[in-house]
Amino acid sequence: MIQNVLVTGASGFVGSHVVDELHRRGLRVFALMRRSSSSEWLQSVPHEVRQGSLSDVESLYSAVRGMDAIIHVAGATTAPSRESYFDHNAWGTQRLVQAVLQQAPSLQRFIHVSSLAASGPTLNGGVRVESDPPHLVSAYGESKQEGERQVQELASRIPCLSVRPPLVFGPRDRGVLTIAQTAARGWMPLLPSEPPVPSKRYSQIYVEDLAQGIVDLTMSPNLGWNSGEAFFLSAPEIVTQEQIFETMASAIGKKLRRIRIPAWSVRGMAHGLGVIGSLRGRSYALNPDKLGELLAPAWTCSPEKVKRVFGFQAATSFAEGIGKTMNWYRERGWI
Ligand SMILES: NC(=O)c1ccc[n+]([C@@H]2O[C@H](COP(=O)([O-])OP(=O)(O)OC[C@H]3O[C@@H](n4cnc5c(N)ncnc54)[C@H](OP(=O)(O)O)[C@@H]3O)[C@@H](O)[C@H]2O)c1
Repeated sequence: MIQNVLVTGASGFVGSHVVDELHRRGLRVFALMRRSSSSEWLQSVPHEVRQGSLSDVESLYSAVRGMDAIIHVAGATTAPSRESYFDHNAWGTQRLVQAVLQQAPSLQRFIHVSSLAASGPTLNGGVRVESDPPHLVSAYGESKQEGERQVQELASRIPCLSVRPPLVFGPRDRGVLTIAQTAARGWMPLLPSEPPVPSKRYSQIYVEDLAQGIVDLTMSPNLGWNSGEAFFLSAPEIVTQEQIFETMASAIGKKLRRIRIPAWSVRGMAHGLGVIGSLRGRSYALNPDKLGELLAPAWTCSPEKVKRVFGFQAATSFAEGIGKTMNWYRERGWI
């Protein structure tokens, strides 16, 4: 029976919602926190802290001891270099896997939060399914794919899965916040696509639905799936980039002015911020590695496999999720 669950990345956007969901289901939550991690999102939820970092395998040995399940959410979505992406997303996962094999060999479930980027964008106008060959367009995606490969090292001994969310949004998120702030100022800057398409399309999931899906998979019996498999965890609704802006703007009663951003200017800004980032030793949401992701015509995936195998279906419509997110941003003064 699963009772004690360790969440890595518990201080972050997705991880803190996973902690909330585990608590709602009456499980005992252990949060892996670095010394520098903020507990801002965890203040109202009972949890025990396991001090540790993915870069320090010794700290992971003590963090994983006594756990029934681990939900590995921690990762870097932006980083200053390819090495840094790999160090967080691939080798950090490798160190956690090593700690599990050494110190928690009877773990009942290991869930790895990967990404649609580990499979790739959609180039043919359809939606990706899990069996499609990968088409990786960023070091981020490559590092997440390598993370999945590291998790497969567990597969023969511990029931483990990788879940691949697409675009995630909701309260506490600072990624989609930039888009929300732009919409709140009345602008709809549209990114170009290479190759060109009439409208860029995205799969998406509201963060509370994602957290529910992750916990459903953590608690599910070992039936109908193979250890080490990957699942897209997505809502069925596919949205265009115009729809993202329009839904945000209508949630706060704004009118938008549409502007088209040429590809050369996205490239120029990404390279400029890449240089500034490497001089300052930090990373920006727009950087050269993100170009392949930003210019792709579509990031769409099918939620059919996770529905068929686990019965999981995201409950929140895009409009409802965006409405909740914009309200939360407004209450916090973020927009
Ligand atoms: N947000 C999305 O749209 C999206 C989509 C698909 C997949 N994902 C995946 O979901 C996961 C969480 O993303 P997020 O949006 O929640 O990011 P986030 O808010 O930046 O949170 C990242 C979390 O990982 C932790 N972390 C990073 N490096 C670590 C290390 N070396 N040791 C221990 N903890 C470390 C951070 O801890 P600190 O607080 O100490 O920095 C933080 O808790 C990532 O693996 C990402 O690839 C996200």
